[in-house]
Amino acid sequence: MKKSVQNFFESHDFCLESPSNDELLATFDAEMTAGLAGDKSSLAMIPAYVTTDKPVPINTPVLVMDAGGTNLRVAVVWFDNRGLARIEDFKKYPMPGSSGGELDAETFFAKLADALVPLVDRSQSLGFCFSYPTEVTPDCDGRLLRWTKQVRAKQVVGRMVGANLVEAVRERTGRTLSVRLLNDTVATLLAGRSAGVARRHSGQIGFILGTGTNTAYVEHHENIAKLPQLKAGGRMAVNVESGNFGGVPQSDFDKALDKSLPDCGTYRFEKMISGAYLGSLGLKVLQHAAEDGLFSSAAATALLATREITNKDFDDFVDNPFLNGTAFDKVPFTDDDRRTVVEVGTPIFVRAARLAAINIAAAILRDGAGRDPLYPICATIDGSTYYRTRSAQFRSRIEAHLREILQPRGVFFETIAVEDAPIIGAAVAGLTA
Ligand code: GLC
Repeated sequence: MKKSVQNFFESHDFCLESPSNDELLATFDAEMTAGLAGDKSSLAMIPAYVTTDKPVPINTPVLVMDAGGTNLRVAVVWFDNRGLARIEDFKKYPMPGSSGGELDAETFFAKLADALVPLVDRSQSLGFCFSYPTEVTPDCDGRLLRWTKQVRAKQVVGRMVGANLVEAVRERTGRTLSVRLLNDTVATLLAGRSAGVARRHSGQIGFILGTGTNTAYVEHHENIAKLPQLKAGGRMAVNVESGNFGGVPQSDFDKALDKSLPDCGTYRFEKMISGAYLGSLGLKVLQHAAEDGLFSSAAATALLATREITNKDFDDFVDNPFLNGTAFDKVPFTDDDRRTVVEVGTPIFVRAARLAAINIAAAILRDGAGRDPLYPICATIDGSTYYRTRSAQFRSRIEAHLREILQPRGVFFETIAVEDAPIIGAAVAGLTA
């Protein structure tokens, strides 16, 4: 790294190496234990009341709704004789509240219900993948704890999401659905099990890196200290809500981004690594660099006047600083400026890749499986940011970190992708109620 760029990062407390992998993994583990005990922790550690060992009925249709950070998807899913998922009547809508103004609760649930109405003749059961921090009840409904990913529908916080949706569908169709709500990471974990892969795994985790980020793994009931009533000897999936992990110090860029958001102070980890934020974070870095004199004055003026950059534009341009058709078209970059974009932009992705790997590894190590090469542990990974980010050879960088962390610890692991994982996992949950 050029000295001027190195000084720039140092002077803004942006560090690629510290805390070390070992330190971060230890903090993650301690926060997980505290969250499971109901003690103060940045990790909510939400028990999902989902086990992973129930057989999935075949040839039985189930309704599925997947409410993600950007899209709302609905479908009818059934598993064929070979256990393969068949997805029918798939439809995609924008996630209510993710763009435009604030929605009241009634409008929010009305929009969800309207998407389901055309499908209700197909099944009475609904698997509902709801990708937000939600406290789950033993019968698998969920109370929204807070919105993440900048969704705007304040009135929904504190409400039972499944019950309100069921009521809105009943008002419209006269039918009463039976709903099982689960987080997208738990759905992804379940999808990994149902993928029909020939390999035998000793354990599963689910990891998402898309608009937001999060992990789920399977925990022994005995270790979920905040629920002493759980039957000893059992295991259930736990939604870590790792996007709120508090163990990584913020740089000036992170602080500037966080301050500009309505939910300042929360989900700081997610704001360092996920698709909803990497573009805005990138713009903060470029603007700090412009203020510190790292760009020509014409480019600096244009960068400082820029209001918004999408994650995709930032990633594409850092990966190829001669690309046309991005928000950077308006900035009069010299070749030196373009070099600076790469030099100050790439470390954002380098840091995100290491932190993503730490998050995955923390869940794998917590599970403890994968000690026998015959039975590796399986990490099912979903999310656009993980698969589509180009800069810093993002995905292969995450995989390299995973090898570097897990191999010396004697852990055999495999990462897999399951197409439409949240939908398939929600179907599994809906069918195994
Ligand atoms: C956010 C949500 C979390 C979800 C994750 C990935 O962090 O709070 O529930 O799993 O995004 O979509």
